[in-house]
Amino acid sequence: MGRKYAIIGVGHVGATIAFSLVTQGLADELILIDKNQKKARAEQLDLQDATARLSSHPKIKIQDYSELVNTDILFVTAGNIHALDNASGNRWAEFEYTREIVKDIAPKIKNSGFNGVLIDTMNPCDAITQYLQKEIGLPNSRVLGTGTFLDTARMQRVVSEKFEVDPKNVSGFVYGEHGESQFVAWSTVTVNGLAINTLTSKLNLDLEELEASARSGGWDIHSGKGYTSFAIATCAIKLSLAILDDAKLMCPCSFYNAKYESYVGQPGIIGKNGVESLVTIPLLPEEEQKLAISAATIKEKFATL
Ligand code: 2OP
Repeated sequence: MGRKYAIIGVGHVGATIAFSLVTQGLADELILIDKNQKKARAEQLDLQDATARLSSHPKIKIQDYSELVNTDILFVTAGNIHALDNASGNRWAEFEYTREIVKDIAPKIKNSGFNGVLIDTMNPCDAITQYLQKEIGLPNSRVLGTGTFLDTARMQRVVSEKFEVDPKNVSGFVYGEHGESQFVAWSTVTVNGLAINTLTSKLNLDLEELEASARSGGWDIHSGKGYTSFAIATCAIKLSLAILDDAKLMCPCSFYNAKYESYVGQPGIIGKNGVESLVTIPLLPEEEQKLAISAATIKEKFATL
């Protein structure tokens, strides 16, 4: 059997993931599920029309939870962009909406016998991923959120622009919430292999300004096009490939951390079993403190569910 993907919620993010999977020849089977039947059918037809011009021939089906039983990767990408408060950049504004979605879909996912890896992009990402895990009952290792993988990409972009290097050659991690309490662990950041902390004095860089610009990256996009889609879809697909290829990719995502009793963004190893281990990098004391505060923020708000 080939690679079988499913997507619940084919809005901007879900449809972009579907388009990429199909046009890049990554999926052998793809199941699209959406509360709007006409939208699911329209995306199915549009993608099926594309397959006449592709070298692959994915089977695309819609609206059938029973298909999840042998699905390898399930993306949960439902959400309500209109609930997002653009001015404050508050992803918790989606909470009221997305937790109702979880109440609706979690029993259906559970009853389907799904036993693959679930990748959540819904906001507030950390809390909703935890809620999905709790309601579906899959092990923590098989339920992860894109979390700060996206914020880390934004950090790589803003730093790369300053240093005029390719973003891939900026490494390091954004930790914490996929939200306002996230932070760049600057002690982990390198540019072309050199620790950024050794370069800042020479270049007169303001790390706080760079961090703020990475943090607000989503809102800059949101205020222009009303949603974000391409980078988040690319992050989600990258994670799925790391799972299906058993890549042992080290990257920061929203994983369960028993120390904080919460899902929170931190580096981990992604392979065929989902999150195979967390990676504990020694952080500076002030960074450790920021991580604890961010995790506590998520935990506290999760408790209000
Ligand atoms: C993003 O950061 C809005 O969470 C979404 O792109």
